[in-house]
Formats: sequence, C-alpha cells, structure tokens
Amino acid sequence: MADWRSKEAKYYMKVVNRQSIVIVKGEGTRVWDDEGKDYLDFTAGWAVNNIGHANPAITAAIQTQAGQLLQTSNQFFTIPQLELAELLVENSCMEKVFFCNSGAEANEGAIKLIRKWGKINKNGPGEIITAYKSFHGRTMNMVAATAQPKYQEAWAPIPTGFTHVDFDDITQIKNATNENTVAVMLEPVQSEGGVNIPSSDYLSNVRSWCDENNLLLIFDEVSTGLGRLGELFGYQLFDVEPDVLTLAKGLGGGVPIGAFLCNQRANVLEPGDHGSTFGGNALTCAASEASTRFIIEEDVPGNSRNVGKYMKDQLENLRMKHEIISDVRGIGCLVGVEFSADIAGKLLSACNDNGLLLNVTATNIVRWMPPLTVTKEEVDEAIEKFDKALDIAKV
Ligand SMILES: Cc1ncc(COP(=O)(O)O)c(C=O)c1O
Repeated sequence: MADWRSKEAKYYMKVVNRQSIVIVKGEGTRVWDDEGKDYLDFTAGWAVNNIGHANPAITAAIQTQAGQLLQTSNQFFTIPQLELAELLVENSCMEKVFFCNSGAEANEGAIKLIRKWGKINKNGPGEIITAYKSFHGRTMNMVAATAQPKYQEAWAPIPTGFTHVDFDDITQIKNATNENTVAVMLEPVQSEGGVNIPSSDYLSNVRSWCDENNLLLIFDEVSTGLGRLGELFGYQLFDVEPDVLTLAKGLGGGVPIGAFLCNQRANVLEPGDHGSTFGGNALTCAASEASTRFIIEEDVPGNSRNVGKYMKDQLENLRMKHEIISDVRGIGCLVGVEFSADIAGKLLSACNDNGLLLNVTATNIVRWMPPLTVTKEEVDEAIEKFDKALDIAKV
C-alpha cells in the first residue's frame, strides 16, 4: 500500500499539521480511511459538507453537468449560474450576487464593493471595522481584516484599512468610528475564533449604528450560512439584515464556490470593476444549486436546529461528568467545547482512535460541526466516543 504520509512529507508544503488519517470515501456523516476504518465526521470538511458526504443530490447534479458543460467564462450567460443566483436572491434579503471560488475571495469582492460605495456615497473613506477573534480568510487583505495576531505576524507589511474592536461590544464600534469609516464587517457568530455568540441585541445595535452613520454592514456568513445555525442564514436568527453578505463553505456542499451578495443600497459595481475566470462556472454552480435546493426543500436548517440543540444538551450533560469541560456554547450544528486545560490535541488523537473526527480551534477548544443532516443516533454515538476519549485525554 502506498505510504501517503511519506509522500506528504516529501512533496507537500507543510502548512498544516495533519491528523494521521488518509480519508478515501464518505457517505452522509461517515468517512472511511485507506485501511477501511470508519469515522463519524463531525468536522464536515470545515463546515462544508452541510448535506453530508456523497449526497445523491449533489452527485447527480455534478454527473449531469459534467457531461454537458464545465466552464465558459463570464463572457457568456450560463444557466446553472443564473438558476443559483435566483435561488439565493429569492431566499434572502439580498438583491444581487456575484460568484467566486472561496470564502476569502468572497470577502475580497465585498471589500472592493464597499470601498467603491464609500467613494460614491461618502467621498472616499475606506476603513472597515472588524472584530478581534474574527476569521475572514488567508489572502493578505483578509489576514488584515482577521484580527488575530497569529495570522498576521509573519506577513508584514499588512495592508491597512481595517480597525479592530472587541466582538459583542457596541461601545467600541462607536468609539472606533471616524470620518474614514465606511463599514462594519462581522460574523454573526464567530466560528474559528472559538464559537463566540453575541448578546441578543448586539447585532441590531450595530445595524442601528450603521444606519445612523451612513455605514454599510457586512456579514461574513462563510461559516454560518446555508443552515449551520439552524436558519438558512445566520442573520435571520438575529433578525438583522446586512447590506452585504458573503458565503462559501456550505454553499457548495463540497465543491469550491463563494459568493458575495448585496442589497439595492450597496449595488454599485459596474462592468470592469470585478471578475473571475472560474467564479460562477457551470459545474460548481450546478452542484451548489442542487445542494442549496436540497437544504431549502428538505428543511435542513430545521434539522440543524433540532439535532444541534440535542448535541449541545448531550455535551452539557458530559460536563457534569468531566469537570475539565469549562464551557459548552453554540447554536445549531456549530458547537464549541472549551476545557480548563490545554488538552485539545491529545483529545483529538484519542477521538480519532475511537473513530470520531473533530476540529481544534485553540489548544483548549474543540469545535463540533457535523453535516446538518446528522441524526440524533449519530450524535449519541459521537458522544460515547468523546466521553471515552476524554477519560484518556484528561489524565
Ligand atoms: C467566517 C469565515 N470567513 C472566511 C473564511 C475563509 O474561507 P476560505 O477558506 O474558503 O477562503 C473562513 C474559513 O474558515 C471563515 O470561517
């Protein structure tokens, strides 16, 4: 059998410390490695496989589209792109959409749109307020927007134009606003930063502040969009509509696609302002349309809400048994478990041995983010594996 770990060491850039598992197949919430061992996948490809691995809806759409047309460029109209655009706009508070290939790219496009809006409507200001512990991607601008030193330190000079404030503190946003400010950019719930949920009135207060000061509000829903929080979009949960919305991850269900959407007020881009060779290509749009339609028609957000609550409750119960669990927080199928010691690495290995995949966001935090089609029985199985892994990791 090929030694994939040695090949990785020899050929691949070491930008991540991988877990020692070679995944070759998936179905629903489960994946299999190259030795036939199965795992419950509660990482969902980093919140991507929202309707599970190898969902027949996506597979069929890809097979059909692959036999017809993959790519034409945006020089021409293509049907899957426009069908997906209609589906997203008709099911959100947004008016227009542009497709790209990733979350970082969606945010980059959104920043361009906002800066242009600032030039037209405010005579030039381009500064954007973002939050500490946010995560907006790995391009240079998104590293600047992401207010976490560990993602910035190695890459100086960092682009300017972003001001950082504490999440869930409206006073800091007010104090940080000046004549150069054009927008506030937030994740409705911070995911990579440790699953941080704002107080119930925070986002509506930010919305009011933006309205009073003629600022745009951008929600980065790359992680929270498409049902993860138990609503199709996270903004619905808080009843706060942004001017600009970015999506990726669960939008494709596994194929690389991103999108930025805007309302009429922010609809300022014109021919020549933006573009992408692959963005909005027929193949990824067909897969994304099939996945998004499935999410809407099968009420996948409802399952995310119900089973996610069950999952959180079961994790809360485990807290009674394992004192090392200091907090369990989350909404829908995005739940963070925090520990009073730095056991996340050891715990992850023990989980892997038991056949459970989880994600670490800090040395003392693990994220539970299964496919949104996960069942209560699968949650029970995962909890049992986690419980046993905790017995090993906490000593
Ligand atoms: C909220 C948020 N925005 C943006 C990104 C970047 O997305 P991508 O990795 O597709 O560029 C991520 C990735 O984790 C994210 O969680």
